[in-house]
Amino acid sequence: MGLIGVTAARAHEPITTKLTWTQEISRIIYKRCASCHHEGGTAFSLTTYDEARPWAKAIREEVLERRMPPWGAVEGVGAFRDDPSLTALEIEMLVGWVEGGAPEGDAVYLPPAPAFGTEAKSASSAKPRLIVEAGVPLTLREAVAAVAITPRDTPEGSSMEVTAYKPDGEVEHLIWLRHYREEWNRAYWFRDPVRLPAGTRIAVDAIAPAAALISVGR
Ligand code: HEC
Repeated sequence: MGLIGVTAARAHEPITTKLTWTQEISRIIYKRCASCHHEGGTAFSLTTYDEARPWAKAIREEVLERRMPPWGAVEGVGAFRDDPSLTALEIEMLVGWVEGGAPEGDAVYLPPAPAFGTEAKSASSAKPRLIVEAGVPLTLREAVAAVAITPRDTPEGSSMEVTAYKPDGEVEHLIWLRHYREEWNRAYWFRDPVRLPAGTRIAVDAIAPAAALISVGR
């Protein structure tokens, strides 16, 4: 009896959107969310309609508040290769889908489920690395190209900013992490390597003790 009631209630929820899971929404989720939200990933799975549907309201909340996907780097400071932030259109589509009753759609449109296990290249494999501690600026003895920054020992909730002061006076803001969260403990890859000449002073500003691990190439 109870089961029949639940099914009926769901079937009668008015659908007021043309956006569907199988056409638009699964594609956004696979691209932006599934790297963590999959079976065996770092968060509960969202890779099927049945898994995602109960989370619809929460998904709306999280993307409107820009809490998901977690990223942390403040926009406009540094240009990162794999910035997963949703575009305004993607947010609009997710919200529109949820508010329109989160319909499933026709299964023929469903894209193949994403495969995992092919983890992105980890920054620790890119050598050598520089470690810069907060309050202890480091001056480069030779030119380097910074390829990635990984926050280190950064306490939850704190903020960290990494800045390069070049010898010609140019100031390059490399990254700014605000209200740090443990899940941002990852390598932030620059879209293009940031060339820093010899004599550049790299400083980490943080309220709490913290450090930045900078992966460099030539
Ligand atoms: C880098 C990993 C990562 C990515 C990418 C990611 N999430 Fe999450 N998400 C998490 C973690 C970790 C949690 C907390 C998991 C838990 O409590 O089990 C979470 C929690 C959530 C929650 C539950 C929040 C609550 O109410 O507690 C929702 C909803 C969510 N994510 C939606 C999304 C959506 C939608 C996307 C893509 C736009 C996304 N996430 C991308 C890691 C991620």
